[in-house]
Amino acid sequence: MTPAAHLIGAPGETGLVLLDHPDRLPTAVWCGVVTPDTNAEDIVTLGGHGVSLLPEASTIWYGRPGLAGHRGGTEPGAWSTRFMPLDVAIDEHGARMHAHDPVAALGLVTEIERVAGGLLRIRHTITNTGTTPYFLEALEVVLPVPDRVTEALDFTGRWARERVPQRHRIGDGLWLRENRRGKTGFDAATVLTCGTPGIAFGSGEVWGVHVAWSGNHRHRLERTPLGRISPTITTLGGGELLLPGEVTLGPGESYATPWVYAGAARDGLDGLAARFHAFLRATPAHPHSDRPVTLNVWEAVFFDHDLGRLRELADLAARIGVERYVLDDGWFGGRRHDAAGLGDWLESPDVWPDGLAPIVEHVHALGLQFGLWFEPEMVNADSDLYRAHPDWILASGGRIPPEERNQHILDLTQPAAFAHVLGQMTAVLAKYDIDSVKWDHNRDVIEGGSATAAGRPAVHAQTAAFYRLLSTLRTRFPAVEWESCASGGGRIDLAVLSLVSRVWTSDQNDALARQSIQRWTAQLVPPEYLGAHVSGPRSHQTGRRLPLDFRCGTALFGHFGIEWDITTATDADLAALERWIQVYKEHRALLHSGRLIRLDLAEPGAWVHGIVAPDRSAAVFAYVQLDDLDHEPPAFLIPGLAPDRRYLVTRIDPGRRPDYTPPPGPVSGASLADVGLSGPPPAPLTTTIVHLRAA
Ligand code: GLA
Repeated sequence: MTPAAHLIGAPGETGLVLLDHPDRLPTAVWCGVVTPDTNAEDIVTLGGHGVSLLPEASTIWYGRPGLAGHRGGTEPGAWSTRFMPLDVAIDEHGARMHAHDPVAALGLVTEIERVAGGLLRIRHTITNTGTTPYFLEALEVVLPVPDRVTEALDFTGRWARERVPQRHRIGDGLWLRENRRGKTGFDAATVLTCGTPGIAFGSGEVWGVHVAWSGNHRHRLERTPLGRISPTITTLGGGELLLPGEVTLGPGESYATPWVYAGAARDGLDGLAARFHAFLRATPAHPHSDRPVTLNVWEAVFFDHDLGRLRELADLAARIGVERYVLDDGWFGGRRHDAAGLGDWLESPDVWPDGLAPIVEHVHALGLQFGLWFEPEMVNADSDLYRAHPDWILASGGRIPPEERNQHILDLTQPAAFAHVLGQMTAVLAKYDIDSVKWDHNRDVIEGGSATAAGRPAVHAQTAAFYRLLSTLRTRFPAVEWESCASGGGRIDLAVLSLVSRVWTSDQNDALARQSIQRWTAQLVPPEYLGAHVSGPRSHQTGRRLPLDFRCGTALFGHFGIEWDITTATDADLAALERWIQVYKEHRALLHSGRLIRLDLAEPGAWVHGIVAPDRSAAVFAYVQLDDLDHEPPAFLIPGLAPDRRYLVTRIDPGRRPDYTPPPGPVSGASLADVGLSGPPPAPLTTTIVHLRAA
């Protein structure tokens, strides 16, 4: 085999240069944004050896390996590998590379695909070609980034405070973000990003990886001083986190990693986010209808289901322009509070003696869609299901795991448990005309062992069973739209997003706290997926009181909805809400298809963000005053428009506070980006929203 350098990727996209070797896996010598001048041979000449997408100690690699596994000491050669290429097919569109290690008795296939948005996605599949079991501990995809990368940014968080950004300067060593919650998690790294100094929204070079998996997973960033062999090398990567003994490959069996998505951008975090957004917008599950204004009844009634009151809410909702009504938790089994009923997906005889027909029909008669809440992977000890099948939960060591929110995890890897929940959900979805399902998952998985795995961990199998359950229901009910909830924000990743059209971004409905959650969740997910609800005047989460216009101006930049007992709202508030709904409807096509722009202003109390139409003919921008300002208001900069076109600026937020009028005549995109509009007068907890239209 002649060593050859290959470039995967086209100009403007994320690219990878791979170098063939006769006696080892191909190495990735470069990852970045491809330009018309990117030259694979030059990169190889200048760039050294690079690193394999599956680094192995046998090739002189002192960092974290890509593969960890063994055969329980029976065959000593199995714990460290030296894969030899067998069949390597690489072209500009991607790669499929087959390798084997005859001593370790393992086969490896690495696939690289170019996907929409100019991202790459990569996965490994390993096969046990031996005659004894192979105990797999970790299999991860690794990519090199250039030495000029010095900073990292990723996310952490907790319930109602998801996607908190954290930054650090990269030093030698390993930055390992492990998630062991059995779901994607509030504290998931989400996109592990690194870049040139001062990672910012609108400028700078950035590289990011995302592990598309809704169970335990890892993101990794490592810098290794490799001494004389090669310059210092920084790598990014990730894979699934396997618990001890979780994956044992029998002879002939295989394991595939989740897809690991990789993106590079030369125009900052917004450029990287645009790649993920374009990818999601090209997926079949992407919503292809206007995102309906939604009223979710949770914070209006909680568990107190009363038909009269729920109808009244629907009537009022229809009157002000709501288009979808979601009946949340509390409609099934003995679910009068959060300690009972999960697992019994039958209409509660106490509160729904005639089933759900009276509310479903009422809502449809008003012309609204009807949505329903489920938490399919959960069971309360106080449920008919648990009483009949106490062994249908994930557990280990004969212990009952500690409850969280009074609930256990239903072991979907047990065929009978899977069939039970599939059967009950199918019956409800077949009986009523249900337009959307909000799919919750309110607790983390602790000690996720299963009888089906002889007591060994089964989080991988449970995650796969979740995908199977949702996929089966999608096939049975193709008209239903699915939403990933998980206590708000707890299961947001590109794997679940291949199956759902919406995420409940966070249980945090306090608009001030929501600003940050939406701003940063949008690093992966575009606004049309991000459920964003106008709460009541006083937040249930924080106790804070926020003005209605600020609550609406925040929800406008997501999939707009309401989560408030609007029967208690004043006439003035209802009228204002109705006007905001009209604004949302008028602009949602643009808000849900354009490029997201976020600004780093020096003033911490003011934020600017907006959406620019793909053809740059229009945009909507918000100037958000989070707090009192340290200085005079900074300029309302509007970047991202066509510099040579002139735009008419109109104010569209109906609240009109603060008192502020944009310039009357058209102004150029160049001036809007450079000088900007004057900053609206200081007024904490306000949003000033403008529409720009090319004259
Ligand atoms: C979770 C969800 C909420 C609501 C409740 C119901 O917390 O995130 O929106 O559905 O469960 O119990």
